[in-house]
Amino acid sequence: MTQRIAVIPGDGIGKEVMPEGLRALEAAASRFGIVLELAHFDFASCDYYAEHGQMLPDDWFETLKDFDAIFYGAVGWPATVPDHISLWGSLLQFRRRFDQYVNLRPCRLLPGIKSPLADRKPGDIDFYVVRENTEGEYSSVGGRMFEGTEREVVIQETVMTRHGTDRVLKFAYELAASRPRKKLTSATKSNGIAITMPWWDERVAEMGRRYPDVAVDQFHIDILTANFVMHPDWFDVVVASNLFGDILSDLGPACTGTIGVAPSANINPEGTFPSLFEPVHGSAPDIAGKGIANPIGQIWSGAMMLEHLGHREAADAIVAAFEAVLAEGDRAVLTPDVGGSGTTESLGRAIATRLAG
Ligand code: NAD
Ligand code: IPM
Ligand code: MN
Repeated sequence: MTQRIAVIPGDGIGKEVMPEGLRALEAAASRFGIVLELAHFDFASCDYYAEHGQMLPDDWFETLKDFDAIFYGAVGWPATVPDHISLWGSLLQFRRRFDQYVNLRPCRLLPGIKSPLADRKPGDIDFYVVRENTEGEYSSVGGRMFEGTEREVVIQETVMTRHGTDRVLKFAYELAASRPRKKLTSATKSNGIAITMPWWDERVAEMGRRYPDVAVDQFHIDILTANFVMHPDWFDVVVASNLFGDILSDLGPACTGTIGVAPSANINPEGTFPSLFEPVHGSAPDIAGKGIANPIGQIWSGAMMLEHLGHREAADAIVAAFEAVLAEGDRAVLTPDVGGSGTTESLGRAIATRLAG
């Protein structure tokens, strides 16, 4: 079966982890008889912006819309392009225009990686963050008035729609219902944010009537962050608004030792548009160019992409391969964020070799 994939490395370590993501994909594809047709694009990067004055070509939507999936590295280079310009000009456009309203972010303590939380071992941290990905706090509704004066005012509205909220809640409930623990946690802040958040809680309760087998609890976001650290074993599926989900999906992986391994799937569940797969992390300017970024976030995102495209076995093989390499714990192979002295390439090659059998 042929899969047409748009490959966009982006900026910084995005360009370093992408080759390893592709190496693992190619190894899995050849083992499981999948034909990958890769199309490489240099847009949606700050280098492209430097040359063209915009992050994307005018016809980007047409160019990308018929791919089976988009495989993205990371974007952002604040030294040359302000982050809100590079991100609103690329990734956030993809999420909105391709209606990728679910951002699915697994968070799992992997074998061989030490959690910064005392005495936590694999199995203790194993949950998903389901993040609303197209509306909420990430809105362009608002403005700036009386600029530069003492009376300057800035306003940015949170926009939540019933359609937009219910569909991501449905996804989260379905996911929880499919897991052994059948547990859903909702991130809220209905004590302080007294319009949108109590309404979010109502929608959670309403959707819950359709899923009587799923146990639901909710926490205000402040104590929820504390509980991620104190009791990560409490969580199974955590559903959150766009901003809360963003924060939780860096905190969760940090509790598993490094954000470098965390993957994400920006999903358009109806399949009207391509879904987009990328690591949770960014372009990491502080380590870019050193060849030491952990490629597992990119590789695991590739596994999520194969699973989304219906290649479950190949996806599982990729996960099994990086788990085996991590469990082996060869310091010369592993990247520094997980205690090694190796490189992006040494870890990527070890995983691809393991995959090839
Ligand atoms: P970041 O995720 O790039 O880096 C945060 C820290 O984690 C850094 O110390 C970095 O070295 C480390 N880190 C990240 N990925 C790693 C990996 N694979 N291996 C080892 N260490 C890793 O976050 P930031 O510094 O806030 O953002 C840098 C740029 O990336 C900004 O322009 C930001 O807007 C952008 N960004 C993009 C995305 C995305 O493309 N999805 C996500 C987050 C941030
Ligand atoms: C992420 C990132 C993006 C987000 C930024 C770079 C706009 O942090 O994918 O988690 O906030 O969604
Ligand atoms: Mn983030």
